[in-house]
Amino acid sequence: MDILLIGSGGREHALAWKLARSPLLGRLYAAPGNPGIAGHAEPVALDIADHGAVVRFCRDAGIGLVVVGPEAPLVAGLADALIATGIPVFGPTAAAARLEGSKAFTKALCDRAGIPTAGYRAVATPAAARDALAAFGAPVVVKADGLAAGKGVTVAMTMAEAQAAVDMLFGHAGASAVIEEFLEGEEVSLFVLTDGATILPFGSAQDHKRVGDGDTGANTGGMGAYSPARVLTPELEARALAEIIAPTVATMAAEGMPYAGVLYAGLMLTAQGPKLIEYNARFGDPECQVLMARLDSDLVPPMLAVARGRLAEVPPPVFADDAALTVVMAARGYPGAVESGGSIAGIAAAEATGAIVFQAGTRTEGDALVAAGGRVLAITATGASVGEAQAAAYRAVAAIDFPAGFCRRDIGAREVVRESQIAGSSCGQDRGANI
Ligand code: AMP
Ligand code: GLY
Repeated sequence: MDILLIGSGGREHALAWKLARSPLLGRLYAAPGNPGIAGHAEPVALDIADHGAVVRFCRDAGIGLVVVGPEAPLVAGLADALIATGIPVFGPTAAAARLEGSKAFTKALCDRAGIPTAGYRAVATPAAARDALAAFGAPVVVKADGLAAGKGVTVAMTMAEAQAAVDMLFGHAGASAVIEEFLEGEEVSLFVLTDGATILPFGSAQDHKRVGDGDTGANTGGMGAYSPARVLTPELEARALAEIIAPTVATMAAEGMPYAGVLYAGLMLTAQGPKLIEYNARFGDPECQVLMARLDSDLVPPMLAVARGRLAEVPPPVFADDAALTVVMAARGYPGAVESGGSIAGIAAAEATGAIVFQAGTRTEGDALVAAGGRVLAITATGASVGEAQAAAYRAVAAIDFPAGFCRRDIGAREVVRESQIAGSSCGQDRGANI
């Protein structure tokens, strides 16, 4: 089967790497792709925003499945255009992708379906926002209503910070926002595949959203991740599936907008149990990199089954017991303005250590590879524990020569501490101490 992959980030490189290992794959095309993806797929010069052009390409090339990586084309209705012409697509319709595209939509759905989430008010004027802030008090969370690449959220510890976030948001005409109760707990990402009826759990991960070590500094798209998220115990995962995922999928279907694709739930594990922070209509980036590194079974059959509405017919995925961990190397300045063009070398040396280097914002300049975006590489490794995967990933990072880049030095640290505590209490020695 010939597959078209849409996207150009580290997530899509991980998907291309995994799809390329499928015995069912014929040709893999990528639009637009990147230099890393080009190692597995033929790049196609397609304007993703031109849905007619994508459909024509799929028809001409006999594409059997389109895999949409990022959220923007989904929210813009690319899946709808493909479905309308009978081309199987992995990714939800625009109506269903509102689970990611509109925070107010998702909050209202949580109300209708009784899904545990932070208390909130959707506000459309500065005055309503001020009232909501006064009602919640600090700490409080202010969110822009719409896609913001993970950057439209302010977790405000003081009222002044909250008011500044509101002023900033309502500086734009037609702005709307969601003001939310602050949830306390540990955050995890749970992934499921669904065709609108059947739900197939598809792994868990934890990511590091802040730019600086020790979870400091600005929010980013994600500076690193590891999988599995062991704090999401089987009991908590079962609760999240029953109390959050299942009612979401059922309500979307009952209301005529069945959700088909991967549903990524950002959860807060609170004292009262898992609560929904947000949904995404796609795999996480860089969570996808660690999921794909652990996925032993073929990715094509479940993706195709999602696209065909036949997910009940495929077996559950098989993930390695090993942990995987990825360290993002970003261009200096990220998540603010970055300078592109920084030279990158050492990928082969890094991969010789056993790691996988997924590329995100890169481009070729002659024979050289240079940075072309904020997040540039995701250096991914596996190991018997998160600690071992962490050590392996940083060994590979050391082999990369990217002078205009930086990375966090503590990806996975919290889990490594937990692992060493468990090892210390169960066998009287601290296995994590040498990491
Ligand atoms: P979102 O884009 O909704 O995922 O928000 C970005 C980040 O802000 C999340 O990953 C959380 O770390 C944090 N956050 C969002 N909502 C809340 C909340 N209600 N309480 C505490 N932290 C939150
Ligand atoms: N890493 C967070 C996200 O993909 O939304």
